[in-house]
Amino acid sequence: MEPRKEEIKSRPIGVFDSGIGGLTVVRQIRSLMPNEDIIYLGDTARVPYGTKSQETVVRFACEDAQFLVEQGVKAIVVACNTASAWSLPALNRYFHLPICGVIVPGSEAALIVSRNKRVGVIGTASTVRSKAYDTAMKERLSNVEVFAQACPLLVPLVEEGWLSHPVTFKVLEEYLTPLVIEQIDTLILGCTHYPLLKRTILKVLKGLANRPINLVDSAESCAAHVRRRLADLDLLSPSASVGRIFPYVTDEASRFARVARQFLGFSIGKAEQIQLKEMPAE
Ligand code: DGL
Repeated sequence: MEPRKEEIKSRPIGVFDSGIGGLTVVRQIRSLMPNEDIIYLGDTARVPYGTKSQETVVRFACEDAQFLVEQGVKAIVVACNTASAWSLPALNRYFHLPICGVIVPGSEAALIVSRNKRVGVIGTASTVRSKAYDTAMKERLSNVEVFAQACPLLVPLVEEGWLSHPVTFKVLEEYLTPLVIEQIDTLILGCTHYPLLKRTILKVLKGLANRPINLVDSAESCAAHVRRRLADLDLLSPSASVGRIFPYVTDEASRFARVARQFLGFSIGKAEQIQLKEMPAE
């Protein structure tokens, strides 16, 4: 028998990422929809995804989603930019529930705020290689100019907690200079970890450009998109109490507990370590 709509509404939202960074998306979902329960999966045993090939990222993403579906979630949020960049077509083929990524919401937000339609994107090497942001923006506005820069050193710097360290300033200057030279007026933070660098990025941009540059936080636009999608489908939780967050990881949980607070802004309970099942080849 089909589950009743009322029962589906009360189910948790499933969020997955390659590791801890996706908690920046959970943070935004929590602040917009505090009454939703959330199941979070961080594939900490196989992080980073940002250096991996399309084929590997798609396989990992399908295995992550499979776990969330087995937990009975009502929708899946692909918090990882790299996984969103490559795997949405495959996820939509395999799984029949609402699936939201970060690329389209971030692209739409950038097109709204950009005046000169010259948009910069920073992300992992794999995200930049996918051209997913370029494609999403050009599909919506053909004359937009997109300038993408891979920033592989930023994820380790954030995980090290070097959010405003002089080394991070220097690294950001190197990465952002070519984008500023291209006269961008908007920069998409196309990676789960970059919202933590917002303040430092703004300072660096101020030093490099003599004009304001808008920052688009893909975690923030993703959460707004998820709320709209659930509202359209009449799937928002009817609960009046604060939702719970259930964290799962694929490697041992102690590091996760230490770093999670930084990404989430508050503490959550201990994550449970699980093993993902392999997906059959397509
Ligand atoms: N979560 C990844 C992303 O947003 C960054 C970390 C990784 O490379 O796995 O692209």
